[in-house]
Amino acid sequence: MEGYQDLWKDFKPEKLKWGRRIASGGYGDEFAGAYDRKKVAIKVMIGSAFAEAFQREVSTWIQLGDHPNIAMFIGATKDIKPPKQLKRCCCIVSEFLPGGTLAAYITKRKKIALSRKLQLALDAVRGVSHLHSKNIIHRDVKLENLILDGEGRVKILDFGISRIEDVDMSVNVGSRGYKAPEVMIHGSCGCKCDVFSFGICLWEIYYQKRAQLNMSTTPRIGDDCPGDLSNLMIRCWRDCKDRPKMAVVAKDLEVMLSKTEDDMGSQTNNQVGGCFGCLRR
Ligand SMILES: Nc1ncnc2c1ncn2[C@@H]1O[C@H](COP(=O)(O)OP(=O)(O)O)[C@@H](O)[C@H]1O
Ligand SMILES: [Mg+2]
Repeated sequence: MEGYQDLWKDFKPEKLKWGRRIASGGYGDEFAGAYDRKKVAIKVMIGSAFAEAFQREVSTWIQLGDHPNIAMFIGATKDIKPPKQLKRCCCIVSEFLPGGTLAAYITKRKKIALSRKLQLALDAVRGVSHLHSKNIIHRDVKLENLILDGEGRVKILDFGISRIEDVDMSVNVGSRGYKAPEVMIHGSCGCKCDVFSFGICLWEIYYQKRAQLNMSTTPRIGDDCPGDLSNLMIRCWRDCKDRPKMAVVAKDLEVMLSKTEDDMGSQTNNQVGGCFGCLRR
């Protein structure tokens, strides 16, 4: 947590303008607003139970710095009174991302081109990969925590349960349907738990529907899925130690994206190898 306070010393809560409520989450509410003439999102965390999550989220976010696939942190305060709240509480302010969640994006659209799906997935991977490069594990990678900006780029947020790798990993956290088996069983894992969860996201992006899993099972991949894509999903769901690193997942998606949609479409699950046979397995 060291030093995180200094970084919000320039933040002036009195300059914050509150707008409509955009979501209700586990910690409190999320509002739209403005700060310094910029549109912002304000995450309000109500109650002392969330003080630790607040501090962790702020310190993690600050460590991440600027990255095109990470929502930009603007400031935070432990002492603010949101509209219609009697008590003062904590809030975290970030750039406003107007494109909505990736969950809404993929389920509300008709057929999205394969190249666009790969780009969405690659944006998400680059964001998570940046966390891993700083030894931070997100632990709640899911479509609700992947938000689109005004240009259609995906950015990751919600670092309330993120952890530095190897520090206190003994808790079974994360979201149902996205959790890696090792998290369910002994509650401890390295950054590979994010790779498992990303594999579920990848399936959801490809099929444009929610996997709706209960435990750490994996969804069925049909023969219609391009071979290298299904292969990548399966590798993400392997035993923890055999899963690829996020940086490798990113490289593989880059290779797939560099091919045309037609190339990919003609190569189905039955034909692993094909024009993407060059991918690492
Ligand atoms: N910067 C933002 N821009 C736009 N919407 C946001 C932003 N931050 C959060 N949201 C919305 O609020 C929801 C909850 O935010 P999140 O940080 O994930 O909190 P929680 O810990 O409650 O899940 C997100 O799923 C998204 O719909
Ligand atoms: Mg969230």
